[in-house]
Amino acid sequence: MNTPLIDPFARAINYLRISVTDRCDFRCVYCMSENMTFLPKKELLTLEELDRMCSAFVRLGVKKLRITGGEPLVRRDIMTFFRGMSRHLETGALSELTLTTNGSQLEKFADDLYAAGVRRVNVSLDTLDADKFARITRWGRLPQVLRGIDAAQKAGLRVKINTVALQDFNEDELFTLTDWCAERDMDLTFIEVMPMGDLGNEDRLGQYWSLKDLRAQLAARATLTDLPENTGGPARYVRVESTGQKIGFITPLTHNFCESCNRVRITCTGEIYTCLGQEGHSDLRGPLRSSEADDVLEDAIRAAIALKPKGHDFDYSRQQIDGQVSRHMSHTGG
Ligand code: GTP
Ligand code: 5AD
Ligand code: SF4
Repeated sequence: MNTPLIDPFARAINYLRISVTDRCDFRCVYCMSENMTFLPKKELLTLEELDRMCSAFVRLGVKKLRITGGEPLVRRDIMTFFRGMSRHLETGALSELTLTTNGSQLEKFADDLYAAGVRRVNVSLDTLDADKFARITRWGRLPQVLRGIDAAQKAGLRVKINTVALQDFNEDELFTLTDWCAERDMDLTFIEVMPMGDLGNEDRLGQYWSLKDLRAQLAARATLTDLPENTGGPARYVRVESTGQKIGFITPLTHNFCESCNRVRITCTGEIYTCLGQEGHSDLRGPLRSSEADDVLEDAIRAAIALKPKGHDFDYSRQQIDGQVSRHMSHTGG
């Protein structure tokens, strides 16, 4: 039996987020710059290497596997990889295979995802206003995403909407968004905007809308009950008593959840980042490619996890941005 992955702060690592591409068909303003240079294909882990990498983590006790990007569904032939991973669901080694997507390709892939054993998808959506949507994603078009969400629900996938809370952008849609999700029986999670990437002209502090404030606005309209459950992710959930709807809050700024962190991230080139909010990372592609046997890789994984830091240092409380991380969110997949 393999000993499970435990980090220096006695946290068990059982959740892997792996990015399968750095590319995306959108250019969300808080995630990418307009002119991104993407990696040459040869830098990326092949589909076979992605499979070997994930399978090694599953052997080491990972129960939850989330596929991210960029936009994971723009990677060519990605369904081959999903179908491969379904064998770990069948053996029971993996409890959940899921993805975070911008929804643009769901119309095409929802049925295949369900067939591969995916039961839940997280779709990023910050506004229901088509013009605002085009503005924030630069290249995205809302109707395409809405058709994708329809297709996902029709295929039997449970949909959770992820909304980045943005001052002067979607504050006025708080109730429209929550009501829309309730009507469609979708969970909704709000996320505080984090200082990642080249902020350039972005006024991150000006964009920041604290979820403490957002929650107070929701509570003024309806009774919220804290729920003890979690999905193994960082969100804390409440139930809206009038509708039974579940709403999640991901609060890296107002409430640090690092003490219960159970996850690590792998980029599409096989680097492991043991914290979203820190620069530290190690290479796993070298060890993966150095030997057909997986013991070199497994040793490298353990060595990387032994370096997992305590948490991020994001902080806006001094009315300035502290703890900023220079890589774009798309690099590690959120
Ligand atoms: P569920 O399985 O639905 O709970 O998903 P999840 O919240 O684990 O994953 P999702 O991809 O929906 O995460 C939403 C966003 O929350 C991410 O894209 C990040 O922006 C943020 N997030 C997730 N994990 C972390 C983390 O460890 N630290 C920080 N600071 N933010 C995180
Ligand atoms: N802060 C918070 N969330 C972000 N996301 C992308 N960039 C940021 C940021 N700077 C979210 C996306 C998506 C997920 C992958 O990460 O909206 O839901
Ligand atoms: Fe693409 Fe998601 Fe980044 Fe938007 S947030 S540019 S959809 S990877």
